[in-house]
Amino acid sequence: MRNLPVVLACIFAIALPGASGLAHGRDLASIKKSGVLMAGTEGAYPPFNYFKGPTLTGFEVELVELLARKLGVKVEWRALAFDALLPALQQDRFDVAVSSFGITPARQKAVDFSAPYYCSGGQIVARPDGPTTAADLAGKVVAVQIGTTYAEAVKKISAITEAKTFPRDTDAQQNLVAGRVDAWVTDRFVAMDIMIRNPGLPLKAGDLLFTEKIAFAVKKGDNGLRQAINQALTETLADGSYRALSERYFKEDIRCR
Ligand code: ARG
Repeated sequence: MRNLPVVLACIFAIALPGASGLAHGRDLASIKKSGVLMAGTEGAYPPFNYFKGPTLTGFEVELVELLARKLGVKVEWRALAFDALLPALQQDRFDVAVSSFGITPARQKAVDFSAPYYCSGGQIVARPDGPTTAADLAGKVVAVQIGTTYAEAVKKISAITEAKTFPRDTDAQQNLVAGRVDAWVTDRFVAMDIMIRNPGLPLKAGDLLFTEKIAFAVKKGDNGLRQAINQALTETLADGSYRALSERYFKEDIRCR
């Protein structure tokens, strides 16, 4: 009985690689063999990744489903806090991180990125009488989601009073609507989506602080998977499926040009 933990550890060590649900530094061949691509996302970033009732959906969720179909595999999703996703990818908890990650030099030290699947930027959002330019942010409290490129960008504006970070982007947005902060910096398509879907919200979009290319993150050195994703993405960009999906969500094609 004294050895039970050791015995259990051995059983798990043997059982895990065979279980389709658990990924361990998997290359493309093992993903295809298991028939399942394991994808990590936040699930709280509409309209890119979010839960509609019990169902995970969104532009990038549906895009990955399209890519997986081309690769001949199913997708199994894991939902994690945004700032936990890249560390979890590095720990082999899934094969690909799908959460509107902008390609940055700092992230490139930790993970590898696919080709970009949309181009966007960090936009200032405020209440109708609020700030709309970077200069206007002087002396203001600005809400951003923790771990994002928006948080980085806002911290660089030394004249702001405070960059207030929130675990979820939707929390940052709600704090702006409630008047607890002066501005919110988020993705321009996130801002557009919420204003179109909630015309009654007292919000207006200001300037773009920066632009960025959004890509899927894979484990460093996982070149087979990265190239397979790029190939499938190229196909969706060429065969009209990307355009149709993008126009359904945004009424425009948001691919990088
Ligand atoms: N594009 C921004 C970044 O790269 C924000 C991404 C936020 N994604 C999310 N699922 N909350 O940091």
